[in-house]
Amino acid sequence: MFAGLEEVPRSWLSAIESRLDLLCQLKSGPSERLSEAMRYSLLSSGKRLRPILALASAEAVGGDPFSAIDAGCAIEMVHAFSLIHDDLPAIDNDDLRRGRPTLHKAFDEMTAILAGDALFALAYETLSSIKAEPARVTQSVLLLSQAVGRDGLVGGEYVDVVMEGEAASTEAIDYIHPRKTGALFAATCAMGGLLGGGTNLQVTALKAYGADLGLAFQIADDILNETSTEEQLGKPVGNDRHAGKQTFPAVYGVDRSEELAKDAISRAIGALQSQGIESPPLFQIAQFAVSRKH
Ligand code: IPE
Ligand code: IPE
Ligand code: MG
Ligand code: MG
Repeated sequence: MFAGLEEVPRSWLSAIESRLDLLCQLKSGPSERLSEAMRYSLLSSGKRLRPILALASAEAVGGDPFSAIDAGCAIEMVHAFSLIHDDLPAIDNDDLRRGRPTLHKAFDEMTAILAGDALFALAYETLSSIKAEPARVTQSVLLLSQAVGRDGLVGGEYVDVVMEGEAASTEAIDYIHPRKTGALFAATCAMGGLLGGGTNLQVTALKAYGADLGLAFQIADDILNETSTEEQLGKPVGNDRHAGKQTFPAVYGVDRSEELAKDAISRAIGALQSQGIESPPLFQIAQFAVSRKH
């Protein structure tokens, strides 16, 4: 496990890795290369923070953490799709991801677009196949759809690109960051809580925790883009400023951005405490989001 995440059981991570491998097996035949491309991105060395959060959220409401493993894997598929498309020439035009060539560089652009599409579909196939109380599964499908679509990740990505090169503004980052990153974190924690059998109040608190955690996580990502190295991060640095991206450091500078990320983390912890949710993994992930080095 990564330094700073010792409260997260190692068994969770190995279970997530094997489940992802099983849910996205190589299929031979005419589309085998598409299948290879999906695996290239999904099974590369991500931190798996979103599936870990799903398991931790299920556990936090007194459920079996593994009741949320397929939801966590579905979310990781959406995340992989979002990274593939985020790196495309029409979006961020990046060549490096997780220390390796981005998918469109390792394969080609057409394959990368379609591998992203197929991972997105596989996420819904995975989620809707979960054997749990049907109302909780349907609610999870709804949460994920709302988090990813026009009013969530995809809408945030859209505005992130169309606002490139404009003067950095609080209006822009307040729109972009909660959507492109916060929404998926919020849905992840809510889905984990739902599938772990949580009450409505617990699920609402987990969603609020996830939203502020995701905001802090993206602020940290913006800061690392200015302060870290390509070797450390496994992805390009300095390109946000170069592209004229709307980032927290561009609006507030690095020091104030660090404070704002910590404020978001305090709110996230406060949301858990408001429902008496005592979860060492969720508390530690909150600290990790802002202290992480990669
Ligand atoms: C990267 O997410 C994209 C952002 C939302 C900042 P992660 O930092 O979770 O990426 P991986 O999965 O560990 O590569
Ligand atoms: C993060 O986008 C959010 C999504 C991929 C949806 P960024 O462009 O800020 O993240 P990195 O730095 O490429 O991982
Ligand atoms: Mg981007
Ligand atoms: Mg990017």
